[in-house]
Amino acid sequence: MFALKGHTAIVTGGASGIGLATARMLAALDASVVIADLNEEAGHGAVAELTADGRKAIFVRADVADADDVNALVAATLEKFGSLEILMHFAGIGMEQGALDTTRENWDRITGVNLTGSFLMMQAAGRVMVENGYGRIVAMSSMAGIRGGTGRTAYAASKGGVAAMMRVMSVEWAKSGVTVNALAPGAIETALVKKMHDAETRRAYLAGIPMDRYGTPEEVAAAAVYLALPQSGYITGVTLPVDGGFDASGVIKDG
Ligand SMILES: NC(=O)c1ccc[n+]([C@@H]2O[C@H](COP(=O)([O-])OP(=O)(O)OC[C@H]3O[C@@H](n4cnc5c(N)ncnc54)[C@H](O)[C@@H]3O)[C@@H](O)[C@H]2O)c1
Repeated sequence: MFALKGHTAIVTGGASGIGLATARMLAALDASVVIADLNEEAGHGAVAELTADGRKAIFVRADVADADDVNALVAATLEKFGSLEILMHFAGIGMEQGALDTTRENWDRITGVNLTGSFLMMQAAGRVMVENGYGRIVAMSSMAGIRGGTGRTAYAASKGGVAAMMRVMSVEWAKSGVTVNALAPGAIETALVKKMHDAETRRAYLAGIPMDRYGTPEEVAAAAVYLALPQSGYITGVTLPVDGGFDASGVIKDG
């Protein structure tokens, strides 16, 4: 019942972490997958893995913060597979830096990739989908865009911005068969988190997570794929937490 045969999906950030897990899951449901990433070696490796399994997949090197790259990515997708039904826009970068220490350079870097990149990518995919009268866009927000926390001025602003933009696009495109939603992962064990979370951050985070563990990329991918199904057509404008109960919780006592 849940199949994506005949659907083409762009997965940005698809060479690693949550994006890679999502690309694998989409391919397993028979979607054609375009992995878009800056990391060429890992991107080609992912495509080799998927095609060896008999899946349809290509890699396109693209910087999501570059409008020319984004347009070329969408064009390459249409040329190769002839349609674009799904955008999983997961490319992003993180940084932990206190508000008083955040430099203008770092602010521009983080918001440039996470927020401006999301605008460029979602607009370019949305243009094709609105024209075709069908689409599923899943953007990447974060718990950091919903709740406060130390060291996240630029990152949180970029992710809160993604959620706000997603809501606007979801309303504007609601009558066009295009749904636009976002994921808000909590702490997920990926390369990004290995860089961003030191031992103290890990201890502090775990204390607030009722499940008392970090999530896996596959647990986020499952939520992403759910939002991309044709059957999920009445869900739009939603920011879905995937966070082990972090957002729901307050004081957590043992027992
Ligand atoms: N891991 C978490 O705990 C967590 C929590 C909340 C949100 N997120 C978000 O999920 C997304 C994926 O994160 P992840 O943890 O899988 O990280 P990751 O570092 O494993 O993967 C991110 C991928 O994005 C690519 N990328 C970075 N900048 C790019 C650019 N400008 N253009 C194209 N590709 C680019 C990287 O090369 C990498 O392959 C990010 O947007 C991140 O902010 C992650």
